[in-house]
This record gives sequence, C-alpha cells and structure tokens, in this order.
Amino acid sequence: MPLSDSVFHRISRIAAEQGVEAYVVGGYVRDHYLRRPSTDIDVVVVGNGIALAEALARELHTKLSVFKTFGTAMLRSHGVEIEFVGARKESYTHDSRKPQVEAGTLEDDQLRRDFTINALAWSLDADRFGELVDPFDGMYDLEEGIIRTPCDPDVTFSDDPLRMMRAVRFATQLGFTIEEQTFDAIARNAERIKIVSRERIAVELNKIVLSPVPSIGFELLELTGLLALIFPEMHALKGVERRGKHAHKDNFIHTLKVLDNVARRSDDLWLRWAAVLHDIAKPLTKAYDPRVGWTFHGHETLGSKMVPAIFRRLKLPLNEHMKFVQKMVFLHLRPIILSKDLVTDSAVRRLLFEAGDDVESLMTLCEADITSGIDAKVQRYLANFELVRRKMKDLEERDRVRNFQPPITGEIIMQTYGIGPCRVIGDIKEAIKNAILDGEIPNEYEAAHALMERLAAERGLVKA
Ligand code: CTP
Repeated sequence: MPLSDSVFHRISRIAAEQGVEAYVVGGYVRDHYLRRPSTDIDVVVVGNGIALAEALARELHTKLSVFKTFGTAMLRSHGVEIEFVGARKESYTHDSRKPQVEAGTLEDDQLRRDFTINALAWSLDADRFGELVDPFDGMYDLEEGIIRTPCDPDVTFSDDPLRMMRAVRFATQLGFTIEEQTFDAIARNAERIKIVSRERIAVELNKIVLSPVPSIGFELLELTGLLALIFPEMHALKGVERRGKHAHKDNFIHTLKVLDNVARRSDDLWLRWAAVLHDIAKPLTKAYDPRVGWTFHGHETLGSKMVPAIFRRLKLPLNEHMKFVQKMVFLHLRPIILSKDLVTDSAVRRLLFEAGDDVESLMTLCEADITSGIDAKVQRYLANFELVRRKMKDLEERDRVRNFQPPITGEIIMQTYGIGPCRVIGDIKEAIKNAILDGEIPNEYEAAHALMERLAAERGLVKA
C-alpha cells in the first residue's frame, strides 16, 4: 500500500477541511512502481499549496520553509521531505527564470511536467485515496520503459531545456528508451542547452556517470548533438582516420567501453570520470608515422594537464577528486607497459611510489582499458596484470614503498652539513629516493644515512 504513512492521511484531512484537492505527484509515485526508495514527496494542491503546508506544519510542530516567488513550501517529517505546490497551468520548474504561477487544474499541471513517467499522481481525496491519476499513459511508459513528454516535446523542452539532459539521464539510469518524437525534439532543440546553468548540467552528467551502464547516456548525448555543446573534448574523440592500411580505433567508442568496464567494477564517481578522461588528449596528440601508423605520444601527460580546465568548465570540484582524476589519467599507461615488459622490481616500486594509496584504483582502470576484441590478447594482458599485482603485494610487504617518504629529509642534510637550501640538497635527496626505488638500498634510515654521507663526501661537503 503506497500511502500507508500517516502523514498522507493528515494531508488528506486538511485538504478536505480547506476544500481543496491534493495529490502526490512525480518522482515519488514513479519510484514506488520502480521499487526505488525515495524520500522526496511532491504534493500538488489544486488551490493554495502554501496554506495547506502551513496547516500541516502547525499540526506536526515542524518548521516550514516557504518560497513565495515559486509558490512552494517545504517541510521535513519522519525522514522524508515534503514539498507543496499549487497546480499550475504553465511550466512547473522551480528554477526557470520567470516562474509562472497561473493556477490550473491537476491535468494542466501534469501536462507541463517533463515526462509521462513523472506525471503520475495519487489522489489524497478521502473517497479516492491512493487512486492513480494518469491521463498521459505514464503507467504504460513505465512498464514499457519509454521516456516521452506529456505534451508537444518542443514545448516541454523550451519550458526548461535541462529536461533534454534529464531525458538522457533517466534513459541511462533506468535503461529506458527515448521515444522517437521526444528524441527528435531534443536533437532539434539541443542548442538551447546553452541557456542552462552548468551546475544543473553537472548534476545530470554525474548521474549519468554513476548509472549502471553509463555509455548509454554518452551515446545518447552524442546522437542528440548535446555532447558537442556541453563537452566538446569528449565529442572530439569520435571518428576513425585511415591512411593506407593504417586506421586507428574510434576513441569515443573505446572510452565508452572502458567506462562501462570500470562501472562494472567500481561505484566510485571519480574513477569513472578518470575512465571518461583517460584518453581525452588523443585527438590533440594524434600523429601519423608511415612506419608504425597512428601514434598518440604523450596523451597521458597532456590529458592530465587538460583535466583542471575541463573540471572548471563542467563545474566539477577543483579539489582532491580532481587531483585523483589527474593522477589516474597521468599514470594510466604505466601498468600496461609494466605488463608488456619483463616486470622488474624497480619499475613496480616506482609505480607503487607514484600511485600511493590509489594503486588499486589505477589497476582497476588499466584492466578496464583492455578493450581488444581478440580474446587471447585480453587474456594475456590480464594474466600479466595479475603478475604485476602479485609483485606489488610482495614488494609492498617487503619494502613499504606505497606511501613512502624518503627517510632522509632536506632538513637532516642541511643540519648535518651546516648549509642552507641549495641545489645539492635536492640532488642528494633524489639520489637516495632512486636508490631505494631501484632496490640498491633498503627503505631504512640507517642505509639512507650512510648513502647520504657517501654522496655528500663526493660533493665535498663536510659535517658541521
Ligand atoms: N520536473 C519537471 N521538470 C524538471 C524537473 C522536475 O517537470 N526540469 C517535475 C517532474 O514531475 C519530477 C518532479 O518535478 O518528477 C520532481 O523533480 P525532481 O525532484 O527534480 O526529480 P525526480 O523526478 O524526483 O527525480 P530525481 O530525484 O531522480 O531527480
């Protein structure tokens, strides 16, 4: 029984007292039928939504937030958030620049919502309590997995162009199909996405990235023309160039495979973003060499340098998450190089040192990066990765290099030889670090100190 919570009965009674009709509408109803947990309840009142909310807040002794400009009011009760709004004739959206407040019927209100599956309503009238009101066959679309607008899609999307992103996002999250006319309208109106704030776009993008099969969303964004407008660097990955017998792979398709592979292995939003961005500099580093074919030298370095500008424009956070993505992009070729060559201790130690605590994430990304169609090749790489992993574990237990801080600091060198900051200190520190990573000396103070003394003597330093 969807409306078992006592709060719905209270709303029902107050609505009757005030002589208005109230309905639960939108995401909460949709999510009930999809068996998805939801704690956001939207109530539409045919009449004054704020007055009903005020009466309920008084009964529950709870605080009410009123947004007069939008004609909405919100309160929290027993872990759920309930928002009240009067039924409107015009667009529903909260954040459209000119909120329309002309009162309307329930059906007017449902008609101006984004999708039929989001326009389902349950009556809270005493006589019809819990009855589904579904004038646009939202239930059919929910069962068939269809994203469709209740009215002319050109109108729906011009009311709020963010809905184009929402269509793609719902299709991706739920594995639904965007109905043809709705899809065509997105393609036709794509340019209008430019008037939507980048913060709102970022919310939808992140939801796409966090979906079970995120490639669905990026493919739809590409097909509708939205991707070129909101994320041109990713759009630029698309395409294949051929010279003679040399053709490179389509980096857009490859990136989507890697993203889905990572999504199967990890729920981490930022590792998934690293998958999106790991080859982002390929178009810019592409070169043709008649002997070897297409090359993308340095794409990992350039790619990691491109991350901050992309994060800034997409309104993603410029904090440690961004640094993590940069690091993953920068290092993403390293394990594969290791697994191709004879794996030396020193190379594995260096990777452990550079990746630090993120080494597991890096290995996940690199395994996901193997998208060859040839099974034997994939198996060989994966087996080699296993070898790299084992070696890492071994070395980690022996040498503890993962979050390694060289045991000799600049301070120690300066104090020992009574000198101020200068280049020779950096040289000695670097030589000690390399000696540890190359396995020439153990990762211990005594050995590092002895090496420092030798190196200092070679450079003519005398103890203070
Ligand atoms: N809505 C709309 N157009 C928008 C945003 C929202 O018509 N651009 C309507 C839909 O009816 C939606 C309801 O407002 O169901 C609530 O919106 P919101 O809470 O943003 O989304 P949900 O549909 O609940 O889904 P989610 O929480 O996954 O975003």
